[in-house]
Amino acid sequence: MIYNRLGQTDLNVSHLCLGTMTWGEQNSEAEAHEHVDVALAAGINFIDTAEMYPVPPRVETYGLTETYIGTWLKKRANRDQVIIASKVMSRSRDLNYVRGGDNRLNRKHIEAAINASLQRLQTDYIDLYQLHWPDRNSNYFGRLGYQHDVHDQPVLVETTLQVLTDQIKAGKIRYIGLSNETPWGVMQFIHWAEKLELPRVVSIQNPYNLLNRSFEIGLAEIAHHEAVGLMAYSPLGFGTLSGKYLGKKKPDNARLTRYERFTRYTNPQAIAATREYVELAHAHDLDPAQMALAFVNSRTFLTSNIIGTTNLPQLRSNIDSLGLTLSDDVLKEIEQIHRRIPTPSP
Ligand SMILES: NC(=O)c1ccc[n+]([C@@H]2O[C@H](COP(=O)([O-])OP(=O)(O)OC[C@H]3O[C@@H](n4cnc5c(N)ncnc54)[C@H](OP(=O)(O)O)[C@@H]3O)[C@@H](O)[C@H]2O)c1
Repeated sequence: MIYNRLGQTDLNVSHLCLGTMTWGEQNSEAEAHEHVDVALAAGINFIDTAEMYPVPPRVETYGLTETYIGTWLKKRANRDQVIIASKVMSRSRDLNYVRGGDNRLNRKHIEAAINASLQRLQTDYIDLYQLHWPDRNSNYFGRLGYQHDVHDQPVLVETTLQVLTDQIKAGKIRYIGLSNETPWGVMQFIHWAEKLELPRVVSIQNPYNLLNRSFEIGLAEIAHHEAVGLMAYSPLGFGTLSGKYLGKKKPDNARLTRYERFTRYTNPQAIAATREYVELAHAHDLDPAQMALAFVNSRTFLTSNIIGTTNLPQLRSNIDSLGLTLSDDVLKEIEQIHRRIPTPSP
């Protein structure tokens, strides 16, 4: 396992991070525990979760993922061996069953969210606390274009940052990070941290995979200059980059078979690009999923690649992607496909 420094902190996180958002929906508590055991044995020390999980979110399952991590932590009694990242939800129209709705990145909601996460996780502190998505009108979750809304009333960045600072001082969280952010958003957090002498964000968790390389446009540069590295989510484009859905296949129990609402990675351009990447992998005797993961693993702006798996063979195979170095030929051909079909799944 390779370990990378998380921002400017003294934490060294594994190059692969264990994603958890299927636990409590596609995966049982026993399966979740098995996943963490196998991941830890392979050297993974970093687990990503969120108060909102599992996904797709439902009132009946809200918080279950953190609960399963909590029971695992209690059973193994090894809190100091894992670095736990969680997230607070921001405003949303669909998730009004959480804290009475109207969730904002303000003191009331952030404090309540942290206390509830700590209770579910059965721990005193969360290592990395991330804002799951911005509290403002912006272009994330598949929106490429930005439309300005003059009536938008975001919670100010400096307000959110002050609340998080108080939670760090209280010892409940150690470091802070962003998710689904834009270059402007990241630079706002850095600006206010410097101006008010408050803690800096140390990471940004955004989608990054062969079908969505939008991170490279504005954020990769920030990642390097500001030491705010990428935690890449959905490195397999919800599993599509394994090639298992090509030819309109619907594998049993697979995410896109079970939940038709997920369409980010199945538009015609995404399918065309996926076909090309899968053919490229086969032409070089590579497993398509491992090739897709190895590509993400090889990016210089990456802090950690968040792998998601629903069974142990997937987990073992995805961990093995670390041992795969893509040849110059494969990387060149990936660039050619990317130029023909750039970012079909923003
Ligand atoms: N910040 C955010 O907004 C955000 C958003 C999404 C995810 N995340 C984080 O990132 C993690 C990973 O995201 P993701 O689950 O979307 O990642 P992904 O790698 O794009 O998709 C993972 C899914 O693909 C399938 N899969 C995995 N390995 C495979 C293999 N070798 N062969 C075939 N199919 C395979 C599995 O689903 P099936 O078995 O069902 O096919 C698995 O659950 C999440 O758990 C979460 O922690 C964060």
